[in-house]
Amino acid sequence: MSQTRNEIFNYYRRFLEREPDDSGLSFYLKKVKDGSSLEEIKNEINSSEESQILKMKKFNNKIFDLHSNQSKEEIQKTFQKITRRYHWISVNGVELSDELMTSKAYQMWISQSIPEDLTDKTILDIGCSDGFYSFLCESRNAKDVTAIDFESFETWSHDDTLSNKDNPNNLEIIKNLLDSKVKYHKLDVYDVQKLNQTFDFVLMYGVYYHLYDFVLALQKISDVVTDSVFLSGHILDTDEPIMYYYGPDSSVKRNFSSIVGSSNCLINIALKMCNFKTAECVDIITTDYDSNLSHNNGLTKGKIGLFKFSK
Ligand SMILES: C[S@@+](CC[C@H](N)C(=O)[O-])C[C@H]1O[C@@H](n2cnc3c(N)ncnc32)[C@H](O)[C@@H]1O
Repeated sequence: MSQTRNEIFNYYRRFLEREPDDSGLSFYLKKVKDGSSLEEIKNEINSSEESQILKMKKFNNKIFDLHSNQSKEEIQKTFQKITRRYHWISVNGVELSDELMTSKAYQMWISQSIPEDLTDKTILDIGCSDGFYSFLCESRNAKDVTAIDFESFETWSHDDTLSNKDNPNNLEIIKNLLDSKVKYHKLDVYDVQKLNQTFDFVLMYGVYYHLYDFVLALQKISDVVTDSVFLSGHILDTDEPIMYYYGPDSSVKRNFSSIVGSSNCLINIALKMCNFKTAECVDIITTDYDSNLSHNNGLTKGKIGLFKFSK
């Protein structure tokens, strides 16, 4: 088994430019135990979403390391309080990288849409989750960053001395580590006008297909953005400007997974219904889908699009 283990380490270093995390290593060791050949494992790692993203020429493989005045030991101790996590985060080289709901490579792919210099810019990050993109904008010199999410995720971190209700969420824990000024509000996208502010850039990654009325949400966002919206999400694999409605599913929440549009559908909505002057698809990747989510319609692979809508 140690020979197999070494080979898996080699494939990770060669195709993903990193060491395997515990869950990845045990996933592939189990596959070998269940009969997969090393050649099959090599091909799987080589064709993974992470490897595809790393191979993209325009992808800028920068280290998105955030800065804290705290020591590595203190950061590690703080990270240990986080029991569930959405984003890959690196602070002073200490990484939150295991059992994520996204990946470092995917976050870097998304981040190519955000301007490298945000000096004097105001940002709104909608559906911010753990706040990776908000902190990235702050590190790119944004003047003011507001992060909203309609869930507060308090139970994702755990401080035994506090009740569940009083536990800070991951964004607040990381904000504290970074001594950040990001403003966090538990807020639904439909209430965005309650912020009483306009923003140069609005980020809306992985949110549109959660919404029961994407058009209404984008109209409200259009009223508060002065420059551009950067949006990403699952898309239908067709040039037709169509939207698919997956229907209410009693097993999911009211606000989750009703619609998925094609790239041209999202572009038409932005141009014709939401007052944007230009709308473009910046990039598309093929990715593994979680077939249990209703908007993925039982598929195990599909497309994610990255868009820019400008006023
Ligand atoms: C798939 S996650 C994406 C997180 C992050 N934006 C990213 O791309 O890594 C979707 C996020 O949107 C939030 N969300 C869904 N519907 C929302 C709504 N109506 N208003 C605000 N946030 C919402 C969810 O709570 C979740 O944190």
